[in-house]
Order: sequence, then structure tokens, then C-alpha cells
Amino acid sequence: MDEEQKNLKFPEGFLWGAATSAHQVEGNNHNDWTEWEKANAQRLAKEAGGKWQKWQQKKFPEIFDPANYISGRACDHYNLYEKDFDIAKSLGHNAHRFSIEWSRIEPEEGKFNEEAIEHYRQVILALRARGLEPFVTLWHWTNPIWIRDIGGWHNPKTIEYFLRYTKLMFREYRDLVRFWMPLNEPGTQISLGHILGKQPPGEKKLLKANKIFKHLIIAHKEAFTLSRQLQYPFEIGASHFMFYFMAYNNYLWNYIPKTIISYLADRRFFKVFNNYSDFFGIQYYQPFIVKLKIGGRVLGIIENKQPGEKRSDLGWEIFPKGIYHNLLKVAKYNKPIYITENGLADSDDSRRESFIKDHLFWINKAINKGADIRGYFHWSLLDNFELPEVRGFWPKFGLVEIDYETMERKIRPSAMEYAKICKNNSLIFHD
Ligand code: BGC
Repeated sequence: MDEEQKNLKFPEGFLWGAATSAHQVEGNNHNDWTEWEKANAQRLAKEAGGKWQKWQQKKFPEIFDPANYISGRACDHYNLYEKDFDIAKSLGHNAHRFSIEWSRIEPEEGKFNEEAIEHYRQVILALRARGLEPFVTLWHWTNPIWIRDIGGWHNPKTIEYFLRYTKLMFREYRDLVRFWMPLNEPGTQISLGHILGKQPPGEKKLLKANKIFKHLIIAHKEAFTLSRQLQYPFEIGASHFMFYFMAYNNYLWNYIPKTIISYLADRRFFKVFNNYSDFFGIQYYQPFIVKLKIGGRVLGIIENKQPGEKRSDLGWEIFPKGIYHNLLKVAKYNKPIYITENGLADSDDSRRESFIKDHLFWINKAINKGADIRGYFHWSLLDNFELPEVRGFWPKFGLVEIDYETMERKIRPSAMEYAKICKNNSLIFHD
């Protein structure tokens, strides 16, 4: 055998699983996104030709179909969660990350829906019964309609309302849930929803966005403080989307904008959340290459044009070593780290297995360098309604494929490979 085989072990008790979010999988929600989707689906379908590359248009003609942009029944996970958790268990997972849909718990201001509260209790119990440790997110970007109508997160009242909902969730599930993430990637919602206008509410208002970000920060901090006041044995996590920033061609002049961008995107987040979190949830997908153009314009290369082995269906570059650098950066804050999202859109499942293994290789290296990494959640358990930029159903992120007509679940081959890693708590790697 000329290639060397290595058995890379993970720490004892390492958590293995996958992640989802309510609006992406549940189906039949009624929140600010639902209405925005209906109002914008036609436009998104019309603009798809200008947004996606020719190879993507050819491979995924559904990008021209307005139905792609309406979450509708999604994966009907609201009804089929037990079946989905059976699959997760069969795949050797021992943890699962999901989110609670605020608009179901509190469809009208101050009116809490007992059925929905009971539903999520059953969801959590179903996880526990299968030996899956629940990681609960309380806000994955969607808001109840009445929150939208008072101005969303721009209105400081929303912080109060969010904390009232948080307190209720903490109380209801205090004996069942240890790991909580009040907010999912606040920075992404700020940039895509409030600065670039690519997802609800579709605004492009920098100053307003900054204020909203501040409100989200307060909400997280106060949720953390609340958990301490209540003296529940919780671990509260802050989730952060991380690109891996690189200077184009390693040119010196690209290092300057790279350093500034990286500072703004990452350092600020960790500084702000460090004293108000028990762990960090890191969500890594791709690198971001920073290039300074003549005239001083900064150009970031994220979604490249060509298809290929080293790119996902969204055109994102696959760069596993980026997670290693990011994790070492986060390790400096001396907190437990969970990778709460990492994955790719890969409809034919030709790249997912190596994607997972290569990322885990670098995660393992970061652990050996001293980073306190305690779990990995692949994004996602199921194909789903891709939320960022309201991309819709065509990007296929699932370990499990969904037939949206029949709601049939089909385990992808890469999921079986990931299952071996989960079950052995180690990765056999070929050099
Ligand atoms: C979000 C997910 C999303 C994933 C893939 C993350 O930023 O939290 O909701 O589906 O990226 O784009």
C-alpha cells in the first residue's frame, strides 16, 4: 500500500450530528418570511437568469420557477420529525441542532400557543429517546408577523418580546435542554436582510442595520444573563458565520483590506460575545478572497463562476483548511467550540463525502493544536428551503434527499460514510 492510512481519533464524548432550522424544514409556517416569499417569488424567478451561471441554470431549471421561492410544505418535518430522527439515529448521530419557530409559539402578541409548546416538547423528547443531545436555536431569522408589523428588530420593544419568549422556552424545557443558541448568525441576517436587501425584510439601510445589530447583541446578552439569573444548568452559545479570508495571490496590498474585513467580520463578534457565552458555534462554508482593484475598490471573490470538483452547486469554493485557521483563531478566546454548521450544496452527492472527511481532517488537526472543539453538526440533515438570499429548494444540502412530491426520505451515500465516522468517533484518513 503506497498511501498511508491514519486513524484520526476525536475526543471522548464528542458530539456528532446535523443541523436544521424551523422555517427551512417544518412546512406551513406563517411568519414574516412566508409573506415576503409570496410577494417576491415571481421577481426572484425572473431575476434568476442574471444571478446564476449558465451551468447552474442548465442543471437546475427550477430556479426559473416561482414555486422554488415559496417554502410552503418544505420537508413537512413538523409532522415527520420522528421519522427524521430515526434516520439521524441510524446514522450514528448523538446530537442534533434545530430551531424553535417563534411565530408558532406566539402567533399573536402575548398569546402563547399551548399546542406548539407541547409540540416542541415532543420534538425534544423524541431526540432524547433516541440518544440525541438537543441544541436549540431560538431565532433563525424568521419573526412573527406582529413583530414585523411593529418594525421588527429596529423597534427596541422587540428585544423585550424576544426575552419574554426566551424565558418561556427556558422554563418549559429547562429539564430537557442543556445547550441553547439564542440567535443564529445575527451578522448574516444583518448583511443579507438589512444591508444588501437580498432576504426579508429586503432593506438596504446601513445605519438602520447597525442599530438592528445592536439590538440583536443586547437580546443575546440578556438571554445569557437571564439563564444565569434563573440558575438553570444551561450552556449558552453564540453562533457565528465565518468565511476564511485570504489575500488574493498573497499580494501585500491585498493583505490590508483582508485584515480590515476580517477584523470587522470576526474580531468584533468575538469581542462582543465573549463575556456572554459559554461556547461558540462556528459555521464555516467557504473562503472569501479579497482583492484590491485599481482605484482602491475592494473586490471579494466568493461565488466563483466555474463548476467543478472543488466547487459546490452554488459555486462556492471548497477549501477545508480554512476551517482549521478559523478554529485556531476562535480557540484564542478559550471557550468550548462546536461546529454548528458546515456543509455544501451537492445535488449528485459527488463531493459531500470528501468535503466532510477533509473538513474533519482539519478539525482534528485544530484539536491536536489545543482547540477545545466538542462537536460537529453537518449542515444539513435534510435537503431544505435554502434561506440565505431566499435561494429556495434547488440547492441540496442534505445528508438525506427529500422527494418534495411524496415527502419520501432517501439517505445519500455520503451520509453512510459520515455515519461510520460518527459511530467510530474517528476518521480513517488516506494520505
Ligand atoms: C444558515 C443556514 C443556511 C446555510 C447554507 C447558514 O448561514 O444558518 O440557514 O441554510 O448557511 O447557506
